[in-house]
Amino acid sequence: MKRIGIMTTGGDCSGLNTTIWRIMCGAKLRGWRVFGIVDGTDGLYDTPPNAIELTDDMLTVEMTRMSGSFLHNGHAGALNFETAAAHGKLNDFNKRLHKSLAELKLDAMVLIGGNGSISLAWAHREIYRDVQLVCIPKTIDLDIPLTDRTIGFDTAVEQLTKFCDQLMLTARSHHRWFVVQSMGRDCGALALHAGIAAGASAILIPEIKFNTDALIKHIKNAPTDYGVIMVSEGITLRGHSGRPADMISRKLTAAGIVNRTAFPEHTQRSGDTTATDRILATSMADTALNAIENNETFVMVAQQDGKCKTISLAEFATAGESVADPNIPDMKTSNAYVDLDDPLLDVAHDMGIYIGEVK
Ligand code: F6P
Repeated sequence: MKRIGIMTTGGDCSGLNTTIWRIMCGAKLRGWRVFGIVDGTDGLYDTPPNAIELTDDMLTVEMTRMSGSFLHNGHAGALNFETAAAHGKLNDFNKRLHKSLAELKLDAMVLIGGNGSISLAWAHREIYRDVQLVCIPKTIDLDIPLTDRTIGFDTAVEQLTKFCDQLMLTARSHHRWFVVQSMGRDCGALALHAGIAAGASAILIPEIKFNTDALIKHIKNAPTDYGVIMVSEGITLRGHSGRPADMISRKLTAAGIVNRTAFPEHTQRSGDTTATDRILATSMADTALNAIENNETFVMVAQQDGKCKTISLAEFATAGESVADPNIPDMKTSNAYVDLDDPLLDVAHDMGIYIGEVK
């Protein structure tokens, strides 16, 4: 009988509970025991490790569509890889995590994380040397290489779209524009998808340079005198600092375009999990369980061309763009961005949405 651990790390998103529940269901069918690590690496660092054995009555089907993580993702300010590195305690931190896995007598660990957590797990793989490590990608940012989708992205697109839908009505009443700032870090995928879905007139993403005069001209010539201008949080404007939506808003105001800013913030990470995210979470959980059964380790589940499979973490670490972590010496995170060949960019452009200086 295997004993498997499961933990959620990094920022939360919708779909985590479905994934935890499906892992628990599939593990039970195989006669395995499942231990949830509470608070991510904070809980694994604790002595004794903060873990609970998952039983049917703890996580019911009704709870699994709710956002957040039933196991929690950790406390702000707790010791983690970055703070441990800053205090010269990274070795001790890693040793403690390794010891906790042994104390829990785990055969395998399912780590549900973003590109930061998965990159860290690979970079500090000595922690997991005595267990099978299987990672499942989750993030609203869709910035993880080698997978077409991440758990939480679809729900975030839905949340952001609905947020814009509401604004559109008040925008229309007052003949004015809303500059909506999306999350996504340096990846514009969330802004691009929700911007198209919501009928935004312009979508600015970090991957594509834009011209403020061209944006202003586009809005002045728009067929409506109201609407949404979607701005991804990762865009920059030379000579300006502060929130990107504010700087775009000021430029529009100076050009005589009446507008307001709106910040959906963490509501993009919440909301009931969409059917698409639930199906993705279920498929990824299934692939993770099969990987454990097949004795795979140091792998990440990925969805490619609609099918879930595993890829090695070594492959993950060299894919995408390697970005230095400012807080951990020699640490690199593997990042993905909107591909400039993404057909959605052409779709947006062809539909008259300003997406920057693409052509
Ligand atoms: O990576 C997920 C994300 O929601 C980003 O889109 C955003 O920039 C960041 O996390 C916000 O982090 P925090 O929850 O620490 O404010």
